[in-house]
Amino acid sequence: MGRMTQPTYTVPGLDLADAGTVIDALQMRLHALNDLHLTLKHIHWNVVGPNFVAVHEMLDPQIDDVRLMADAVAERIATLGGVPVGTPGALVAARTWEEYTLGKADAMTHLKALDAFLGTVIGGHREAVDATGDLDAVTEGIVLAQLEELEKYLWFVRAHLDR
Ligand SMILES: [Fe+2]
Repeated sequence: MGRMTQPTYTVPGLDLADAGTVIDALQMRLHALNDLHLTLKHIHWNVVGPNFVAVHEMLDPQIDDVRLMADAVAERIATLGGVPVGTPGALVAARTWEEYTLGKADAMTHLKALDAFLGTVIGGHREAVDATGDLDAVTEGIVLAQLEELEKYLWFVRAHLDR
């Protein structure tokens, strides 16, 4: 995707066109994180079966953390002179990944689907690290720290699936 945003001001020392590139990368991460925390809550509500308590209770702290990640990304966009977009219609119009489709299902079925969903978010975060690293080290640091947490969540998911 080409650069679409160019702010009228940004942080000192950053080229305006480069700021636009960073903002665009961050906006897609914001959409992904907003989708993720909503989807994690959806799973929290719909998981059933023998591992209900373990999965239901695993998810709430992750949801809180992912909301904080979205907040950090949105505020970096604003700091860079951009306009963070957090509305659901914009998210659905912009996203390049599929909606999470499972409703009520047992824990293992949800965790397999979550494995794939988290994988997509993590892949996007890695691409954002690569795309922004040479332009804005602060953004790179924010996304990199989130990547570490998201990969840990993936381990939690896979630890349930591993037998
Ligand atoms: Fe709850």
